[in-house]
Formats: sequence, C-alpha cells, structure tokens
Amino acid sequence: MPKKIIGFSKLSRVEKIDWLTKNILDNSNQVKLLLDNYLNSNNDIQTIHDSFSENSISNFYLPYSVSPNFLINDKNYTIPLVTEESSVVAAVSNSAKFWFNKGGFKSKVKSFIKRGYIYISFNGKIDILKDFIEKNRADILKSTYNITKNMKKRGGGISAINVVDKTDDLKDYYQLSIDFNTSDSMGANFINSCLEAMSKKIEELSRRYEPFIVNNFSINIIMSILSNFTPDCIVEAYAECEIKDLIAIDDIDPNEFANKMKYAFDIAKIDINRAVTHNKGIMNGIDAILIATGNDFRAVEANVHAYASLNSKYESLSQCTILDNKFRLSIEIPLSVGTVGGITDLHPLVKLSLKMLGNPSSRDFMCIVASVGLAQNFAAVKSLITSGIQKGHMRMHLINLLIKKNANEDQIKRAKKFFVDKEINNYSVNEFLKLNP
Ligand code: MEV
Repeated sequence: MPKKIIGFSKLSRVEKIDWLTKNILDNSNQVKLLLDNYLNSNNDIQTIHDSFSENSISNFYLPYSVSPNFLINDKNYTIPLVTEESSVVAAVSNSAKFWFNKGGFKSKVKSFIKRGYIYISFNGKIDILKDFIEKNRADILKSTYNITKNMKKRGGGISAINVVDKTDDLKDYYQLSIDFNTSDSMGANFINSCLEAMSKKIEELSRRYEPFIVNNFSINIIMSILSNFTPDCIVEAYAECEIKDLIAIDDIDPNEFANKMKYAFDIAKIDINRAVTHNKGIMNGIDAILIATGNDFRAVEANVHAYASLNSKYESLSQCTILDNKFRLSIEIPLSVGTVGGITDLHPLVKLSLKMLGNPSSRDFMCIVASVGLAQNFAAVKSLITSGIQKGHMRMHLINLLIKKNANEDQIKRAKKFFVDKEINNYSVNEFLKLNP
C-alpha cells in the first residue's frame, strides 16, 4: 500500500506517472509506454485535453461513431455518438432507418425553465420572509446584473423568485426558488454564479432589515445551487405508423408485433425490475449523444431517473399505444442540455459533433436527444420481443472476444464469415480458434 502523498497535483505528468508506477504498478516500463501511446501527437490538441481535468496522465479513448438517417421534425440528421457498448450504434441506426420512411420522429419542447435554489434556515414565519424578499427584490436582482447582462441579450435571464415554506419537513427550512432561462447553454455556471451573488446580497440586506432586527429574526444561508431536477424543462418525442407498416419485422405478423411491443412497454410501466432496464436502454442512446456533444450526462441521468419516480414509484419513461390501427411510441423527459458554453467551444470533436447536427439551438437539441433515446428504446425492445438481445449483441461483441483471445487479422476475418449464422459465445469462439489456427 502506498504512503499518503501530499502535493500530487503539483507534480509534472512524468513525475505523477513515476509515482504511480513505483508505488502501485511494479515500476513497469510498459505502463509508461501505454500511457505515452495514448497521448496525442499534436501538442496543441494534447494541451487542450490536459486542461479539462486535474491530475491527467494520458487520454482515455472511446469510439466516436455516427448514425445517419435520423429524420427528426422533417430534418435528416447524422447523429454523433460516443459509447463503449458495441451494439448500441448498430441498434439505434437500424431503428432510425426503420422510422425514416414512416415520417421519422416528431418532437417538441413543452417547457423551458431551469431552477436554482437558495436553501435557507429562517426563524420566522413565511409572510415575514416573503415581505423581505418582495421589498428587496430589485436589489437582489441587481446583484446579478453583471452576470445576467449577456444572457439577457440572448433572451435568457431570471424570470421568477419564489419563497417556499418547507418548515413542515424540517424546522426553520425555507427555499428561495429561482427560475432561469439559460438560452442555448446548459447554464450550470450561470445559475450558480447568480445564486451565489444573490445569496451574498440577501445576507447583507437581511442584517440591516428593520423587522428582522426588531423581532430577532435572522436568515442563515445554508447553500445555493441549481437543481439538476428540471420538471419544467420538458421535451416530448414520438414516432408512429400504421400497424400494417410494421410488416418487415422479423417475419412476425404486424398485429402480433404491435401487441407484443405494447405489452412489453406496459410491463415496464408497472414493474420496476423491467422499468430500470427499459430506461437504461433509452439512456444508452441519450448518454452517447450527450458525451459526443460535451454535455453533462450525469446531470441528465440524475434528472431523468428522478422524473421516472415522480408518481412515487419508479416507472418507464416511454409509452406504446395502439389506437385506430396506429402504432405509436412516445417519450416525455426532462432535459437540461446546452449547445454553447462548457467544453462545447474547447473540445475539437465536440465542436465537430455540434457542427454535424447543424449547430442546433438547445431547444432543437433537446428534440434530437429525446428522439435518439426513443429510437434506441424501440431497437432494444424490438430485439427483446423477437430474436432476443444476445444475437445482435454477441455479433457486435465477437470482435472484442476475438481480440481478447489474441486472434490475428486473418482469424478475425474468417470468424466474421463463420459466425454469420452461428451462435456466438465464449466456448464457440474458443473452439473456432482451436480449429482455425
Ligand atoms: C442493454 O444495454 C440495454 C437493454 O437491456 C435495454 C432493454 O432491455 O430495453 C437491451
């Protein structure tokens, strides 16, 4: 076990690697070589990547893929995707192709408010606190002037301040709930900066507010931070077709397919065991586009799963309905995403991803992301109710298995042909390699 090290972040990259290999990795030269091999040969690009995080010692690659034929609101998109799961891109691409001739995906933003909170403890009643905020509203807002100036020019800013009484849940606990429009940015920095400026001002004003002084009331600001839960920043997407147009799916009668799909979606609505996996399938696509566009996928994950629990039990995020011979899939999710700010102006591939999407506004981007999630969802459930997931998954995983078993290029080529109509698993791949040295 290594001794505690002080000042690790101050070491140079080479010193950090020296420490790591000496103390944890058997002083291995191979480790140093591996880390060097993953550096970018272009110094400028490497410098950009080094700047994203503390203590970085190399780069960590994931495949950068694209999925064409995504018709969303009558526009044909090619979607950039970053994922390590081998079957995700193939599946979503099939789904996009399937829906292309059926009108594609339709999507719209239903609401666009993000919220930040100042969490306070106050030893008085709500009306007194509300009075204080009302009387000082202009000054409180003025404290954010320098931060909101540019955002206002882009149509954003602060749209409401509300006082919420939470004293039934926790003694003296109140919230100042503040509504924001962050235009095309996700807005985390903007919201948090505004909240911190407002908090400072509130503290200062409260100390000289006469009714507080006379009655011995005081505001204690506990913390100020945006909420990643955005139930008023909602996008919906759907895809629909006549049941008879489901004709080409794995030789299954279209009515049978539609009913089985609906039943699978209904199970996900009422059964948490299925709902979590169903939603994970949606997030396979959503996370992949979020990573490719430099968005905060952890924030979106947290948001979406909280939303899935809104009815006091965890439910699936998407629905399947059959009405008048129409088969329809739909999804409604909260999405707080951005197409400017963050690393969107810094990461060369993020810039490329956004360009590929036509540099969308954040509202258009919400529509794209929701549609990708729904497409991924359709692909997964379609496999599950027909061939099963393993067939496609293992076909994509075959190359990984072969590489893990040190197969050479020729063996990989032959294996791809051999396994076209055969079951792929650890045993069958081993047997193939034995018989095909
Ligand atoms: C695998 O990554 C995702 C699925 O499990 C999703 C689902 O079951 O709907 C296939």
